[in-house]
Amino acid sequence: MAKIIGGLTTSHIPAIGGAVPQEDSLRGDPYWKSFFQGYDKARQWLHAQNPDVAVVIYNDHGLNFFLDKMPAFAIGAAPEYRNADEGWGIPTIPPFQGDPELSWHIINSVSAEDFDLTTCQEMLVDHGFTVPMSLFWKGNTYGNVKTIPVCINTVQHPLPSPQRCYRLGQAIGRAIASYPKDLKVVILGTGGMSHQLDGERAGFINKSFDQMCMEKIVDQPEELANISMHDLVKQAGAQGAEFILWLTMRGALQGKVKKIHSNYHVAISNTATGLLVLENTT
Ligand code: DHB
Ligand code: FE
Repeated sequence: MAKIIGGLTTSHIPAIGGAVPQEDSLRGDPYWKSFFQGYDKARQWLHAQNPDVAVVIYNDHGLNFFLDKMPAFAIGAAPEYRNADEGWGIPTIPPFQGDPELSWHIINSVSAEDFDLTTCQEMLVDHGFTVPMSLFWKGNTYGNVKTIPVCINTVQHPLPSPQRCYRLGQAIGRAIASYPKDLKVVILGTGGMSHQLDGERAGFINKSFDQMCMEKIVDQPEELANISMHDLVKQAGAQGAEFILWLTMRGALQGKVKKIHSNYHVAISNTATGLLVLENTT
């Protein structure tokens, strides 16, 4: 049977995508030093675990979906996914392998639990997906890992509530656990932490709220899932709503987890960055 080995969360700021190819030299730069150092332990854990599949919970920022057609939840069921994010000088990177068979298993399983996913047999991915993959698999060495993109609307209100995302994560977790192939699966939740890119509060960061979220998501995720979307935006900023992606990841882990590593760094670009490695203990 497939087994969820754990979850990883990381911010997906496009500026990181530009920095990743120069990581070795930027480790001497005070702006980037502690940010990149945070990833050493995460990569060690990931490479020791050597997962076969990464389910990547992310948000599209207007690339594959635009305001005219915006699904709350979408999932890729394609054999391959390509980066098409032109922004912020992200370099060309290799394509990502899909696993349509596992995608359709998840689609069928969560549909049976009354979640409607927009099924995408073609799907372009943006920095919300690519930056975490390039960060965790240094040198874009993700070639042997199959990926399942799960895209959640954080762009156009009404957004799905934190509670609903957490429950979708639980349904995805049950779907994976019922897949008959022996696969090691890691769940990525991308985006966050607090940030607001537009309007009067542009540049807003809420360190104490972020740190509370990073702590509680380990053992008390239900408490965070009970926050309303209105309060999440108030506390974390308009784009800090991306925290629902972390909650979806946490839902998929089901039950107890062990925190292996965390790192919090303010700020990269306009955003507070958070990194978390959670190992599944059930
Ligand atoms: C930034 C952060 C994001 O989450 C994003 O999608 C785009 C830009 C930023 O801080 O620059
Ligand atoms: Fe974003």
